[in-house]
Amino acid sequence: MKKILELIEKELRQAFKAADYDETYARVTISNRPDLCEYQCNGAMAAAKQYKKAPIKIAGDVVEQLGESRVLKQAEAVPPGFINLKVSGEFLSEYLNEMLRDDHLSVEQTENPKTVMIDYGGPNVAKPLHVGHLRSAIIGESLKRMGRFLGHKMIGDVHLGDWGLQMGLIITELKKRKPELVYFQPDYTGEYPAEPPFTISELEEIYPAASAYSKEHPEYKEEAMEATHQLQNGNLGYKALWNHILNVSVSDLKKNYEKLNVTFDLWKKESDAQPYIPEMVAYMKEKGYAHLDQGALVVDVKEASDTKEIPPCMILKSDGASLYNTTDLATIVERMKLFCPDEIIYVVDKRQELYFTQVFRCARKTKLVKEETGLSFLGFGTMNGRDGKPFKTREGGVMRLETLIREINEEMYKKIVDNRSVKEEDARGTAQIVGLSAIKYGDLSNQASKDYIFDVERFTSFEGNTGPYILYTIVRIKSILGRYQEEGGDWKQGCIKAPANDCEKDLMLTISRFNSVVENAYEEKAPHKICSFIYDLANAFNRFYHETKILGEEDTGKKASWIRLLVLTRDVLETGIELLGFSAPERM
Ligand code: ARG
Repeated sequence: MKKILELIEKELRQAFKAADYDETYARVTISNRPDLCEYQCNGAMAAAKQYKKAPIKIAGDVVEQLGESRVLKQAEAVPPGFINLKVSGEFLSEYLNEMLRDDHLSVEQTENPKTVMIDYGGPNVAKPLHVGHLRSAIIGESLKRMGRFLGHKMIGDVHLGDWGLQMGLIITELKKRKPELVYFQPDYTGEYPAEPPFTISELEEIYPAASAYSKEHPEYKEEAMEATHQLQNGNLGYKALWNHILNVSVSDLKKNYEKLNVTFDLWKKESDAQPYIPEMVAYMKEKGYAHLDQGALVVDVKEASDTKEIPPCMILKSDGASLYNTTDLATIVERMKLFCPDEIIYVVDKRQELYFTQVFRCARKTKLVKEETGLSFLGFGTMNGRDGKPFKTREGGVMRLETLIREINEEMYKKIVDNRSVKEEDARGTAQIVGLSAIKYGDLSNQASKDYIFDVERFTSFEGNTGPYILYTIVRIKSILGRYQEEGGDWKQGCIKAPANDCEKDLMLTISRFNSVVENAYEEKAPHKICSFIYDLANAFNRFYHETKILGEEDTGKKASWIRLLVLTRDVLETGIELLGFSAPERM
């Protein structure tokens, strides 16, 4: 169904035309004076110059032409030339009833579905997930869900970091600890026992130990670099170990992402792109895109309009080794070959912005992508603690994702058992669901590019602009519907009537904006717009709820209409949080 704003605008266009004014002036926006009107058109002011008439005269002419309208109840010309608009209650209820009938809540499927790959998550194998990876997972997941809801083909790729020095470090440390392993024997032929020679906890302990040790001991680091080199050049034992590391790590990562309600369509990794490198490099050389600069192979990516220096994109180091860049470019080659996406979106820490500028420019210049292929960078800011510094554990260490989730769940659990008498295991389960909403909503309600303060106290609160508040509202609606059913009512029946008071109308107007909010949030890659919408909606609902004795209403028609309004409010809220990547419990 058309967006309500478009329907209002259509009326205005007709009126402008009928009054002999250019219809392009008929732009309508949501009112910035909700005390005076619901929508407004400021076109008369803009038109005044062209027609050399007072804006108020033009506004008056247009209002006169609006006359009887199905969509608008009231149109008023107000000095200096505003056109203030109020929507007809009957029309609004029709609009909402249509939403109720549509299992997509009147959000239209795009006429032009795109194949969009989202590169998000980006964890590094064998290193524990930390809160930095949290943002990418949360934002990317939400974007993917929004695109999918609008009918695009979204392909989420976790793009594991499995090809760097960390692999060499782990191998070197393992060799030090367990030199007897078959993988280190010179006559090792490539078969390996199915059992990995370590557990995930060992692995997670090995990497930080090796990394710290290498910083103090250059010869150890040297050895790790050599091991990395050998791994990349086909050492059978190392390759087998790498396989084990990957398997152990991936099954652990999957568990972690599952807890976050994050799923990937592809579990591709940096190493998958390696086979594409030789041909890509040869092609860049042959076409004259790449040249040698102090021994290194580079592609110039600066442009005349640059205001700051954009260094060349390095393809190979002077020793012939490939880099993070090389892998990302080869990954683009692979993605084009396998999926031919219309767009690739990277959800990565904004500190990598310059890097991605280089990679994107290089990919375009060397024609690894088609001219019309979109390459976008959605850079996110840092998640800080209450002290404004990067989020740390109480002891001052890097906060691991698991720890963070555990702490939030604990906090939620305390609040839930404090509040009411619930069974232990019910409270635990609910705490997990609500805890996830606290984390995700806390993150997504901020504009992605901004740094934000992760405030456990605030995020877990049942009041204010928080995930738990939204869930609490949903649960409140569910409980009213439950009671209605117990009284013998059927909340699947009936339709929404025109609003009887301002609170009710405000709730209805808010709901009617859902389709335009979803489209706009996806277009701007801005999940925070979904958050602010569902917050508005939850507030509008709670105001209505406090004003209205729903279940006590004697008039059964009125009561049934409110119940249907509640059903729709619930559906829109639940769809909204679904797009954000979390869900509501039945009770809390
Ligand atoms: N693994 C990287 C990191 O932890 C993030 C990967 C981002 N994606 C990409 N295609 N480079 O910093």
